[in-house]
Amino acid sequence: MTDNGKEYRRILGHYPTGVCAVTAMKDNGVPAGLIVGSFTSVSLNPMLVAFFPDRSSTSWPEIKATGRFCVNVLADCQQDVCKELSAKGDNKFKNVGYHLSKLGSPILDGALAWIDCTLDEVHEAGDHFIVLGKVHDLNLHQQGDPMIFHKGGYSRVLPI
Ligand SMILES: Cc1cc2nc3c(=O)[nH]c(=O)nc-3n(C[C@H](O)[C@H](O)[C@H](O)COP(=O)(O)O)c2cc1C
Repeated sequence: MTDNGKEYRRILGHYPTGVCAVTAMKDNGVPAGLIVGSFTSVSLNPMLVAFFPDRSSTSWPEIKATGRFCVNVLADCQQDVCKELSAKGDNKFKNVGYHLSKLGSPILDGALAWIDCTLDEVHEAGDHFIVLGKVHDLNLHQQGDPMIFHKGGYSRVLPI
């Protein structure tokens, strides 16, 4: 293909995803995090989840260094959080409230659900990594509906 992946993105954009914030607490007490649409459950026994960070992500190496992370499933009303944590910068959490999980990773205020993990495996996959997390604890945090990313924009779920 000679369109720099435009067609790949257009076609694959028809597959909707949820939107999650993957967070960790650095040794210096500063939180790290990024937004991913690539979160998925993998295995029940043992409980494993996965997400795919881009090689160009600056937050992923910081999260990796902690050896743990929390996946926060964003609600449809959390577009402000999505915007803050998908931006580049070292002060992403200045407007984002959170408390710490048992493993010490940020659980975001207003998230629908959270999954507290230790880093299990990292695999190279083209211009991304495949990251597997071992689930230690998980819970629902708020009532509401998830944010959906679809065809390059944000949507809400509509029951059929
Ligand atoms: C809806 C949405 C889904 C995204 N999904 C991913 C993803 O699966 N993997 C990824 O590496 N980046 C994804 N991004 C982009 C990252 O959030 C963004 O590039 C990152 O936060 C950049 O900052 P960093 O350098 O601090 O990592 C997504 C962004 C948005 C808005």
